[in-house]
Amino acid sequence: MKFTIKITSPEKTETGFLALCVFADAPLPPAGQTVNEACQGRLSGFVSSGELDEKAGSTLLLHGLAGVAAKRILLVSLGKSRSFGDKAWRDALTAVGKAINDTLAKDGAVVLEEATLPAGRDLAWALRQASRIIADGTYKFDAPCAKKENGSTKRGARKVAFVLSSESDQPQKEAIRHGQAIAEGMALAKDLGNSGANACTPVRLAETALALGKQFKFEVDVLKRADMEKLGMGALLSVARGSCQEPRFIVMHYRGGQGKGGKNASSRPRPIVLVGKGITFDSGGISLKPGAEMDEMKYDMSGAASVIGVFKAIALMGLPVEVIGLIPAAENMPGGNASRPGDVVRSMSGQTIEILNTDAEGRLILCDALTYAERFKPDCVIDIATLTGACVIALGKIPSGLLSTDDALADELTQSGLNSGDRVWRLPLWEEYQESLKSNFADMANVGNRFGGAITGAAFLSRFAGAYKWAHLDIAGTAWLSGNAKGSTGRPLPLLAEFLIGRAKVREH
Ligand code: BES
Ligand code: MN
Ligand code: ZN
Repeated sequence: MKFTIKITSPEKTETGFLALCVFADAPLPPAGQTVNEACQGRLSGFVSSGELDEKAGSTLLLHGLAGVAAKRILLVSLGKSRSFGDKAWRDALTAVGKAINDTLAKDGAVVLEEATLPAGRDLAWALRQASRIIADGTYKFDAPCAKKENGSTKRGARKVAFVLSSESDQPQKEAIRHGQAIAEGMALAKDLGNSGANACTPVRLAETALALGKQFKFEVDVLKRADMEKLGMGALLSVARGSCQEPRFIVMHYRGGQGKGGKNASSRPRPIVLVGKGITFDSGGISLKPGAEMDEMKYDMSGAASVIGVFKAIALMGLPVEVIGLIPAAENMPGGNASRPGDVVRSMSGQTIEILNTDAEGRLILCDALTYAERFKPDCVIDIATLTGACVIALGKIPSGLLSTDDALADELTQSGLNSGDRVWRLPLWEEYQESLKSNFADMANVGNRFGGAITGAAFLSRFAGAYKWAHLDIAGTAWLSGNAKGSTGRPLPLLAEFLIGRAKVREH
């Protein structure tokens, strides 16, 4: 998708397809009025006749309006003005993206104006969101063995102009670049998630990271089994034992914003560490999962995919931040050498763990990555994991779960979620939850009791994250969709990118 900015009057925009956002219950906004005058009032007729549905995101396609340069006008409902906000605006832009995919027009244009933005949002925000939403809407998974479709791919505009009324300045162009970069990172994350576990193995994750590092010139180190043994990563290795797939520990290091401004090493801000759960298939191990929907456990590496994807995004943006990505990658299988319930293992931190359920494997690979993170003396560590089914029970599939030992970091992530529409909801992480992890045979068990599973999972991780500010994102409910719409969502990449963009801005000042 190619995005541009056009400063023109909407009725004069020569394009195959012009999208115009209007409220269901209010007078036409300025751009709508201009177009309406140009076509002798026919636009307002369509709105007032009720032909355009009230619901935000409903659309009406009008062909060949006399007096208007665009071949087609897409009227998009923003819903009722009283209930208008970020959500309705995003629904409208998602609908625009869908129409851009479906149209026979070669190029499209989208009018953005202050009057139809949610309160407190500016054009740069709108451009970043809109370009991401529209570019992300073009995503399609090319299954490696799929039959080639013929002739059905003529639809979809490949060029989209944002029509603005006032002079465009630098932040606006940058906003489009950022939105597009985030969508490209999401596409990579989705490809990795949607691939079957026979294709997307730990080795394949490592190769993807290495290729990305080569392309964008950031450092990537890949540790193999022997390296992990040397480091004492007994918890991570205990998960990998049951599978024929070799585990990998991937270390990505993006050094944005260094070497400029003559800053010496001591005044340089500390790096941000992102840790992504990379279980390429979670069968449950000896504590085998039931068969229904087990295919979806190919998505158990979505945390890892979001870290790899966000590296692509920040590299494309050239963001001035230092970020380290850590990915413990393994497959959880019930092979003859697999860990059993009752096994005790020693983590890299030295703490011992009694494995009571081999299906609680995510925390076992993450805990060693959290210990490894200490060496970077990070400003903060954020882990991203499809950790618990309990999180989906607690919060549904709308927000990701957020658990943190640091209120400021939790607030910052919550705000990034609101700004990007990729929301999180915080759950408590009080001391009392630690009790259920008691073990008679080790420093802790890897599972608690039946209650508050998303929290006890995070409580387990917190025992390895004491050396720095830490937040945990449980994306079990948000990383993919099931049923007819089955597929990766690319979340929480918009959230992570927003967070890092925010950090980059702080650094510039
Ligand atoms: N990957 C799963 C969590 C999961 C399950 C995500 C279903 C999305 C949908 C994780 O490894 C797991 O199996 N967790 C267990 C933990 C339990 C044994 C304490 C779970 O949630 O059942
Ligand atoms: Mn599991
Ligand atoms: Zn898992």
